[in-house]
Amino acid sequence: MPKQRRATARLTHAILVLHGPNLNLLGTREPEVYGHTTLADIDAALRAEGERQGAEVRTYQSNHEGALIDALHDARRWAMGVLINPAGYTHTSVALRDAIAAIGLPTVEVHLSNTDAREEFRHRSITAPVCVGSIRGFGWHSYLLGLQALLEITRRPREA
Ligand code: DQA
Repeated sequence: MPKQRRATARLTHAILVLHGPNLNLLGTREPEVYGHTTLADIDAALRAEGERQGAEVRTYQSNHEGALIDALHDARRWAMGVLINPAGYTHTSVALRDAIAAIGLPTVEVHLSNTDAREEFRHRSITAPVCVGSIRGFGWHSYLLGLQALLEITRRPREA
């Protein structure tokens, strides 16, 4: 008799979540701006939401521009879309913007803080124009809202 296998939901959709520099310090980093939720908590919430919606969510954080770019290139092989908080690189990195544009995967930009209500140098996002849309100012919920939006748009063509 073949062994009975426990039925597990098949995850047919895969999403890359990328976190930029200093986000590994969430929880202790300027909590008055970024809140008390840790990156591990955010990743767990995103994986759970993904699973609820039948999507595999893989998360990656790096403090290095090139490592983030490599992760974007690699995502071409397996991901249907990208959720990214480029953190400080939002305002400085032409290379990250070019990578998002180059891979051609639908990408949603998120920020914990409302960057438009902060210092002027944070008002401009170099990366947002090559993203499908951006969500900012809702603390860690920005990520959740961003993931929901990304799942919606990456599924729409198949369901149309
Ligand atoms: C941030 C906003 C950026 O301006 C800042 O450099 C960050 C975090 C946010 O999530 O609010 O590191 O991306």
